Amino acid sequence: MKRITGHTRLLGVFGHPIGHSLSPVMHNAALRELGLDYAYLAFDVDPADLESAVRAIRALGIVGVNVTIPHKENVIPFLDEISHEARLIGSVNTIINRDGRLLGESADGRGFMQALSAAGADVRGKKAVVIGAGGSARAVLYALVTHGASVVVANRTVERGEELAKRINEVTSPDSVRATSLRPDSLREAVEGADLLVNCTSVGMWPDTDAVPCPEDLLHSGLFVYDLVYNPLRTKLIAEAEKAGATAICGLKMLVYQGAASFKMWTGIDPPVETMENAVLEEMSAR
Ligand SMILES: NC(=O)c1ccc[n+]([C@@H]2O[C@H](COP(=O)([O-])OP(=O)(O)OC[C@H]3O[C@@H](n4cnc5c(N)ncnc54)[C@H](OP(=O)(O)O)[C@@H]3O)[C@@H](O)[C@H]2O)c1
Repeated sequence: MKRITGHTRLLGVFGHPIGHSLSPVMHNAALRELGLDYAYLAFDVDPADLESAVRAIRALGIVGVNVTIPHKENVIPFLDEISHEARLIGSVNTIINRDGRLLGESADGRGFMQALSAAGADVRGKKAVVIGAGGSARAVLYALVTHGASVVVANRTVERGEELAKRINEVTSPDSVRATSLRPDSLREAVEGADLLVNCTSVGMWPDTDAVPCPEDLLHSGLFVYDLVYNPLRTKLIAEAEKAGATAICGLKMLVYQGAASFKMWTGIDPPVETMENAVLEEMSAR
């Protein structure tokens, strides 16, 4: 972002609530460094106003928008086109305005896989356990299965996990995903032989930082633990995983890589990811 002038183009994020979002600092840092004439703002969109907000993208010529909780699924009927992946997982996190036609994309799975490979983890032929069956779990599950992993999804509401497993098996290959409960005996059986454990719940997030989504005694040194939570950066799950000899990373890189993927969809330019990550870290330490 340079000076805001009559030519400045607009990007943004729709969520509710949205004041806590790190996306504005992250994107504006990249825009500034590249000298691009865009500004990125956060819009608190009440669910009742979602359709009008989407219409405003066309009316105001907004170039692109990120979509976050609680709109990722509900926004789909208001868009003109949905990418294959976003349709399969039923979740949109990026809207691209192409001359008034709104395309819905999902960059969450891409961000997740990029963060995994940046940490040196390979998922092909591996066994993964995903805890959670919400919006992020759908993107993570689809990404894992299409990159050759077999997955057990463990969710508090077992039926929701079963529905998700069924949906992913239908669109990928049968038996790639099986569902289980969060009961310690079910989790033990799944985690014992697993290579990767991914937390796709908000358990452990600030302010409830003493909570862990999986009993500590199940963690072992053969696991790569990926916690999607990034506030705090070092969750109790990560600390316990390291204590058990496992490798563990938090959700910060995924946040940055999914943001970078949206940025490229809007501007056609690869953004400086290190600048984006530093902007997020600086903002988090200032709060
Ligand atoms: N790093 C990143 O870039 C990134 C991207 C997206 C999301 N995230 C983080 O990932 C987390 C999940 O986000 P989401 O969008 O998937 O949320 P969501 O759609 O609301 O799903 C939440 C999931 O967490 C489970 N859950 C919630 N509280 C629980 C508890 N006390 N015990 C056990 N399970 C619980 C829910 O289980 P039920 O089905 O039983 O309700 C559900 O499966 C959040 O912390 C979010 O900040 C990070």
